[in-house]
Amino acid sequence: MNRNNTTRHACPSSCRGTLAKLTGLGLLALAAAAGVFAATSSAAEEDAKTSDASPLYGVTIPKGYRQWQLIAPAIEAEPLNELRVVLGNAKAIQAYDQGTLPFPDGTILTKLAWKHVQSPEFAPASIPGAATTVQVMVKDSKKYAATGGCGFGRFVDGKPVDLTQHQTCFACHQALVKNHDYVFTRHAR
Ligand code: HEC
Repeated sequence: MNRNNTTRHACPSSCRGTLAKLTGLGLLALAAAAGVFAATSSAAEEDAKTSDASPLYGVTIPKGYRQWQLIAPAIEAEPLNELRVVLGNAKAIQAYDQGTLPFPDGTILTKLAWKHVQSPEFAPASIPGAATTVQVMVKDSKKYAATGGCGFGRFVDGKPVDLTQHQTCFACHQALVKNHDYVFTRHAR
């Protein structure tokens, strides 16, 4: 699989509207940020190629995440057409159980995604096809103060995707779920 493919979330119209508004209001801030990114992007992209940490945030795939507890599954419609599950470390699960917001520092959420395919054995069943991305959100209020205490990483075949994709993460999470500490997923019980 091409690890630089631009696997993205589809942006629902509510998101696009909010993003457009934010863009209008924050044009100067965005221009300033773009300047910073332009100055640092080649170095950051170089890092991304040579390390397993995400550009911009330095987030890595957490060890042992496959053993973490389930928070919820999700289905993403076309064009991505994926099955997903979100898993959380012990801090995340405790925060969900106790309704703690914002999530405490050290909370980590991972989202695994697969192509959504029809079972060859039983047509009505949907099953995971090829794995697409592993995405990670790390809460650290000091390190990631500029992005609501959230650090992001998107990985394809275990390697982080490019800087441009990482520049989209916070904007969408901020536009749509700021009131839930930038986290979409609720605990499925
Ligand atoms: C256009 C909107 C959008 C963008 C851009 C986006 N996300 Fe998300 N993200 C979502 C939605 C919606 C969910 C909820 C689960 C689902 O539907 O897959 C989600 C869920 C997550 C989760 C699970 C925790 C949670 O908030 O539910 C992680 C981790 C995550 N995204 C990481 C990333 C990373 C890393 C990037 C950037 C590389 C990114 N996201 C960019 C919309 C977005």
